[in-house]
Amino acid sequence: MGYPLHRPRRLRQSEIWRRMVRETRLTGDALIYPLFIVPGRGVRRAVVSMPGICQLSVDEAVKEAKMAVEAGVLALILFAAPTEKDAQASAALDPKGLVPEAIAAIKHAYPKLLVWADVCLCGATDHGHCGHVLPTGEIDNDSSVETLAKVALNYARAGADAVAPSDMMDGRVLAIRKLLDGAGYLNTPIVSYAAKYASAYYGPFREAAQSAPAFGDRRAYQMDPANGREALREVLLDIEEGADLVMVKPAGPYLDVIARVRAAVTVPVVAYHVSGEYSLIKAAAERGWIDERAAVFESLTGILRAGADLIMTYYAPDVCRWLAE
Ligand code: PBG
Ligand code: ZN
Repeated sequence: MGYPLHRPRRLRQSEIWRRMVRETRLTGDALIYPLFIVPGRGVRRAVVSMPGICQLSVDEAVKEAKMAVEAGVLALILFAAPTEKDAQASAALDPKGLVPEAIAAIKHAYPKLLVWADVCLCGATDHGHCGHVLPTGEIDNDSSVETLAKVALNYARAGADAVAPSDMMDGRVLAIRKLLDGAGYLNTPIVSYAAKYASAYYGPFREAAQSAPAFGDRRAYQMDPANGREALREVLLDIEEGADLVMVKPAGPYLDVIARVRAAVTVPVVAYHVSGEYSLIKAAAERGWIDERAAVFESLTGILRAGADLIMTYYAPDVCRWLAE
């Protein structure tokens, strides 16, 4: 029997009641803050399509890490936009490259802050694809996997607290695990971008990371947005290969995928609230069309409610500060 016996509004009648019966709690502990590292010193260059986000030289990244730590952020993820790009992605293999340098500098200043390193080739290749390109224009899976594993080892050696392959090549988690273990990095977790969709929401990121493909698109390696079951296949394969955490990306348009993945696995599930999701809220807020803080809380809470344990978001320091007010 329903109404009048049942009145769900009884539990919504005051903020105290609402707080007590709240099912999902957004906390700063769940958030990972992405940084974009560029060459130089004293560089803090605004990313036009992502208001509030800058490309940072290593010294400025340390200052950004300070700001994040003071806000209460527990983890960062680093992306690099080197200027030297080639077919081999040499910049990503360089032990003195931007990411190793940034990891060392940030860990030196804030040893307890977790520093994850995104592992991909697109920021370092002259063609901007996430793997090696064959003469036919196809992306070669297996040679790309070999290079990706070397990039991951390069970052693990530099002291990364986790490596996060975002390329979507088949078999890269296993190749990375083997190479890391062989070199003694048994305790470096792999955060796999397991269900990464070919998404229009990455547009602003490509300005920030200078990683837009020079030809074609990423649809032959990233997932078709129409597919949900396939996400489970990708996630289960990555877990078999040794992934410690799995990611769904983007987050907001894929809440069903997050929920299905959550139900299917026991490892932590990460969702990436991507650049386009950030920029949409920013742009509407700048025009006075939306309440930024409320929209961010609602978006991130929805991602947690769907089943994510952790969220990578450009709003991480803001959210920590807003929660502390
Ligand atoms: C590239 C990469 C992308 C993002 C993270 N790593 C873009 C892409 O695949 O083209 C997107 C992140 C964002 O939009 O915030 N491997
Ligand atoms: Zn890539």
